[in-house]
Amino acid sequence: MNHPEPWTDLIARWDAQQGVYIPQRDAMYEAMFEALAHLRPAEELVVLDLACGPGAISRRLLDRFPAARAVAVDVDPVLLRLGRGAYGDADGRLRWAGVDLRDPDWPQRLGPDGAAGTFDAVLSSTALHWLDPATLAATYRRCHELLRPDGVLLNADYLPHPAAGRLRDLSAAMADERQDRAVATGAESWDAWWEAVAAEPALAEALDERSALWPEGSRDWTGPTLAFHETALLEAGFAEAGTLWQDLNERILVALK
Ligand SMILES: C[S@@+](CC[C@H](N)C(=O)[O-])C[C@H]1O[C@@H](n2cnc3c(N)ncnc32)[C@H](O)[C@@H]1O
Repeated sequence: MNHPEPWTDLIARWDAQQGVYIPQRDAMYEAMFEALAHLRPAEELVVLDLACGPGAISRRLLDRFPAARAVAVDVDPVLLRLGRGAYGDADGRLRWAGVDLRDPDWPQRLGPDGAAGTFDAVLSSTALHWLDPATLAATYRRCHELLRPDGVLLNADYLPHPAAGRLRDLSAAMADERQDRAVATGAESWDAWWEAVAAEPALAEALDERSALWPEGSRDWTGPTLAFHETALLEAGFAEAGTLWQDLNERILVALK
């Protein structure tokens, strides 16, 4: 019996699963693209989709801006396999690259796209909080270099208040309650989604590769705070950095070169 390719179903479920943690995810992407439309000419828009997963930003961007081109980078072989399987090169408008942002030389892995001043925009969603503070600051410096002189970085991410405090606790409690409600009404969680991936023979090899990426205990930080991100962006050379959109601790941070 033919086993149908799992990409489409798993990506639809990825989007639904991410929506458990970011209930306003569609509105968030809409706000990112609105900002982009204001800041950059839509013609020949070249965008770096940083820590792209299966390509949520790239797919939406290429639909929304017919003249745009995207370079989608991530370290996870499973998510890259899904994205490549589902969208391929989108008629030459989409390039995928396996890149670990912990590698200081990652821009060189982008080939000609790794040259300074290549991109109009760097977009990222729900990803950079995975990086430890030093790697995050270095990533912002590299993005600053990769951007054109009037380029923009838009990071939609978990960007919490200072490490401790009632405001942070309140946001966390409200977010937890929303997540619990979604899962209680049948939504698939992150863990359940990865269990579905583990059951897919077509992804077995990629899943084996993935198991070496984040050895148990390697992510023992709590995630850099909003203030850390803002300072790191300014220190990376951006002229302005601040919140453009917010839902509890999910924010879009915009940085203008
Ligand atoms: C929650 S997913 C978000 C993916 C996608 N941007 C989205 O919103 O659907 C976080 C992503 O960050 C990527 N990531 C985490 N650490 C990374 C690193 N060191 N280098 C590259 N990608 C990384 C993961 O592989 C994963 O794809």
